[in-house]
Amino acid sequence: MSRANMLSAVGNTPIIRLEQVVPDDAAEVWVKLESGNPTGSYKDRMAVSVLTRALERGAVKPGDRVVEYTGGSTGTALAFAAAVLGLKFTAVFSDAFSESKRKSMVAYGAEVLVEPSDGTITPELIQRMKSRAYALAAKPGSFYADQFGSPDVRAGYNPMGREIADSLDSEIDLFCSAVGTGAALMGALDGLVAAGCRPDVVALEPLQSPLLTTGTGGPHKVEGVGVGFYPPFLDRNLLSETRAIDQEDAFDVCRRLAREEGLFCGGSTGLNVVAAIGYARQLGRGKRVVTLGCDSGSKYLGGHIFG
Ligand SMILES: Cc1ncc(COP(=O)(O)O)c(C=O)c1O
Repeated sequence: MSRANMLSAVGNTPIIRLEQVVPDDAAEVWVKLESGNPTGSYKDRMAVSVLTRALERGAVKPGDRVVEYTGGSTGTALAFAAAVLGLKFTAVFSDAFSESKRKSMVAYGAEVLVEPSDGTITPELIQRMKSRAYALAAKPGSFYADQFGSPDVRAGYNPMGREIADSLDSEIDLFCSAVGTGAALMGALDGLVAAGCRPDVVALEPLQSPLLTTGTGGPHKVEGVGVGFYPPFLDRNLLSETRAIDQEDAFDVCRRLAREEGLFCGGSTGLNVVAAIGYARQLGRGKRVVTLGCDSGSKYLGGHIFG
């Protein structure tokens, strides 16, 4: 398969150090800027991994329909990869997620089915989306991408960890990130470990949906994370801690990051940065914290973060 097409533009993203929003006596905070991927999110890594490996195995063939239920970032990435690979794509989406994500999927040629909501992401809504996607995927000529189950999802993030290790000479004290499926955090960790780097690892979630920290999820507004059930790829044995972060602090820091650091990001990245700064304060000067810049703020214009 040719690797000079748009799929080759996935990965090798920059990593930047925050200068203004981190106190002087705190540890360094580095952010892996995944908005540099073709659809502006780290999800491109998993979409390319899932679809190219499925094609290689013969589990899907050109012209088949890929199906997934999605809050939009995964769907946009799958729509992108499907377009390059000659596959059709149907996304089961909801109006609880940003309208610009729906439009992005359509731009890449996807069919988008919208489940109605009251504007919040609830476990009940996710269940409805899931049932609809399962029913569609059972039809002949369909392939369920299975973002919550396919081993190719976690494997797709392995290079992200290797890239982080290479950029920072494997000197990382703590790695934290908010989890949806948990694949990005765990897959990147696999890559870090393969490169000989063993930082403390922390899974983050919104305080408004504290499933990992208290056992009970709830409605919240941080797109892509806090899915209301245990993140299927999350291996608790590999974690040092789980921490819940107030979504309002995450949205505030998104606005600060754009103005003070020139970093324009979405809510899950804001959540990651709030936590990373907290750990940087705890660890102090001379240490290094790394987190993920999941996607770009441009996906959230007109919503509750940037208005
Ligand atoms: C914007 C955003 N941030 C974070 C995540 C969480 O990533 P993961 O599912 O790999 O845990 C997602 C997942 O959909 C996302 O869309």
